Amino acid sequence: MPPKYFSTRGHLLVCQGPNCQARGSVLLQKALWNHLERSSLAYYKRGGSVRLTESGCLGACSFGPTLCVYRHRNGALEEGWYAAVDFPLAVQIAGALHEEAALPGEGKYGPE
Ligand code: FES
Repeated sequence: MPPKYFSTRGHLLVCQGPNCQARGSVLLQKALWNHLERSSLAYYKRGGSVRLTESGCLGACSFGPTLCVYRHRNGALEEGWYAAVDFPLAVQIAGALHEEAALPGEGKYGPE
């Protein structure tokens, strides 16, 4: 029997490289998990749709904590890259994934 597949609306990756950890990414990851759990946004909750994974270095070490997000939207793969992410911004990004809304512009860098 194959593993259970959970359909999701987006995947968040929070950098846990040493530079981002020095800027608070461990606490950010924990706080974001708690939020996804309590708000039932986590992919394994009823009605939930968001995945969250720890990432290795995302290549923007002087601008952490960094976070990237991937999702399918309007028939294409969309990516979002964020620098200096704090908890309120992480919550906004997760909410945009769940609601299939536009990603927040604050802290965003990289491809449009
Ligand atoms: S350690 Fe996070 S971007 Fe490099």
